[in-house]
Amino acid sequence: MKRIGFLTSGGDCQSLNATMRGVAKTLYQKYPDIEIYGILEGYKGLIYGNYRLMQSRDFSGILTEGGTIIGTSRQPFKLMRVPDENGLDKVEAMKGNYKKWGLDCLVILGGNGTHKTANLLREEGCNVVTLPKTIDNDIWGTDMTFGFQSAVDIATNAIDCIHTTAASHGRVFIIEVMGHKVGWLTLHAGIAGGADIILLPEIPYDINSVVQALEKRTQEGKSFSILAVAEGAISKEDAALTKKELKAKRKKKPFPSISYQIGQEIQDRTGQEVRITVPGHTQRGGEPCAYDRVISSRLGAAAARLIIEEKYGYMVGFRDGEIVPVPLEEVAGKLKMVDPDSTIIKEAKGLGICFGD
Ligand code: F6P
Repeated sequence: MKRIGFLTSGGDCQSLNATMRGVAKTLYQKYPDIEIYGILEGYKGLIYGNYRLMQSRDFSGILTEGGTIIGTSRQPFKLMRVPDENGLDKVEAMKGNYKKWGLDCLVILGGNGTHKTANLLREEGCNVVTLPKTIDNDIWGTDMTFGFQSAVDIATNAIDCIHTTAASHGRVFIIEVMGHKVGWLTLHAGIAGGADIILLPEIPYDINSVVQALEKRTQEGKSFSILAVAEGAISKEDAALTKKELKAKRKKKPFPSISYQIGQEIQDRTGQEVRITVPGHTQRGGEPCAYDRVISSRLGAAAARLIIEEKYGYMVGFRDGEIVPVPLEEVAGKLKMVDPDSTIIKEAKGLGICFGD
């Protein structure tokens, strides 16, 4: 009899339940008496021994349900080796519960930080299979993460809605898109939403180029402009600073986020009326789009196959349309960023989109 632990960790996304359903359905086909432990609130549940014994019916009807039925939390990797406030060794506690519960494998759904801890557990002797979750699409070793396309749809819809009001009022609108340190979500939503200017962390911007692009549009008789700005966007000037210098600069003149800084600069230099929209966590909410439901189901089924074959220590990735196992040690600690020289950037520039460089 197999006993498997499921765990969802880090920021949630729309397709976590669909992915767990994919793993569970495939496993129940092969092992009708399998025991699935739903480890509650991510690594926290593994550390403190909180789980729920799942039934096969728990995985029914959740294909379209956003969030995660077993909860999640952020447990920073850098603190994993630091004892908790009661002196508990978290890594030993996780290994202890894994052994105590008699698990054959941990199925871990998460992003970058989650993968570092998953790899640590692998190094410590636990059987682990992981799945790439995040709206940021920044996990190394996979072309696509689940959750990304659903978030692209929501961010695109935000840009679409802004388009009509921006046109009516003849204003400059900035839509700030999530994505942490990378620009995948902004790039895709920006292209899909027809943004005029897209600013990404990977391509530090020059505010003069942004202003020039706006003025060119005005000269062409366009009454409004749309900017898709990544939450991690950074100016060339700021990108040249050390972390410490940048922190000090931002402390001296604080803005709620980068979009407000850019908005202020545009208003000061062009005299145009600027408005800012931050869709924030709506980008992680609601139901998964059809694309995510498909890749989640496929990734889930492939993860189950690895467990059936007792092939542990892998993330199931998605490359060139196929699902492939990627060794965890290759994934952990790397970030997949937008390449400023990639064809998608060249194509977007060809369409006339300004990247502020
Ligand atoms: O990693 C997903 C993400 O939504 C990022 O895009 C964003 O920077 C971050 O999580 C927000 O984290 P939290 O939900 O902890 O505020």
